[in-house]
Amino acid sequence: MPLLVLFLVFLFPVIVSSQDELNFIVCSSDLYPSGSPFESALRFLLNNLTALPPKSPFLYSSFSSSLISGFAQCRPDSSIAACANCLLASSSKLANVAADGGCGRSNSAVAYQDLCIFRYSNENISASLDESIVGYAISVQKASSPANFSRRAAELMGSISWDAAMSPARFAAGAAESGGVQEQRIYGMVWCKLDLMTYDCFRCLLSAAGKLPFTTVGGRVYEMSCLVRFEVYTFVDPSFIKSPTTSPKFLAAGVGKENVTTPEGGESAP
Ligand SMILES: *[C@@H]1O[C@H](CO)[C@@H](O)[C@H](O)[C@H]1NC(C)=O
Ligand SMILES: *[C@@H]1O[C@H](CO)[C@@H](O)[C@H](O)[C@H]1NC(C)=O
Ligand SMILES: *[C@@H]1O[C@H](CO)[C@@H](O)[C@H](O)[C@H]1NC(C)=O
Ligand SMILES: *[C@@H]1O[C@H](CO)[C@@H](O)[C@H](O)[C@H]1NC(C)=O
Repeated sequence: MPLLVLFLVFLFPVIVSSQDELNFIVCSSDLYPSGSPFESALRFLLNNLTALPPKSPFLYSSFSSSLISGFAQCRPDSSIAACANCLLASSSKLANVAADGGCGRSNSAVAYQDLCIFRYSNENISASLDESIVGYAISVQKASSPANFSRRAAELMGSISWDAAMSPARFAAGAAESGGVQEQRIYGMVWCKLDLMTYDCFRCLLSAAGKLPFTTVGGRVYEMSCLVRFEVYTFVDPSFIKSPTTSPKFLAAGVGKENVTTPEGGESAP
């Protein structure tokens, strides 16, 4: 069985954006016939995954049958109501005809909104690492002290990537001061598909973060298995943001090669 679902990428060039909410949708180019059993299975799945909000505490639910599989996952900092709304919006988007920006009769599709991920496929969705890009965006604005900013931002993302990989929710958010002449507070968030193994989650997040240019004041990389985002404004429920770190556990460039300390160790990596 193929491990990766191949998607036709036609909707999302590199987007340069500001504070807007960004939605990404990817539809497979292979289609199911109208009136087929798969069509009813898909309708059933979309109803099933939106009928009730996903289960707490991780706001994740999945569905699978002989014809279709899918899952719905909300950001752990979203309220149940916001989560339910997000999934409803995603589900109707996926079901829309292609002319309306939907996926029409695609055999598999995924929608990423700020607060939720919704995905279905005519194959079993694998729990293994899939780093295909779903969406990518960077801020138009450059950081005022690029050298300091990019170092701190990369350190922050490395540090919270570890936290997320180790957490049952596969999610972490944090903040750091940029340093430099014009101090800016950087906010970062990283999030994996809930069924990813710790190591795969960590790997996915580091690799996604590695695609961010930390010279601008914001950026996002959304991949099939994980997503990363940083900004200079809060975009995560503040109670989920770890207080600013002064001694990051990881140097982003060196992770994996260095003698990495355990998260409880409190030591800086060399
Ligand atoms: C979704 O489908 C599962 C498996 O068939 C079923 O147990 C569950 O009750 C359904 N949930 C809803 C809300 O339809
Ligand atoms: C998923 O895997 C199970 C067990 O191998 C299989 O019975 C089922 O048909 C598969 N579902 C899909 C949608 O491929
Ligand atoms: C900012 O970067 C410069 C050059 O890399 C460095 O000398 C300075 O200590 C940094 N400032 C802070 C506050 O980190
Ligand atoms: C990692 O560093 C610790 C403390 O410096 C040391 O005790 C340990 O042997 C090192 N492990 C490896 C694999 O180098």
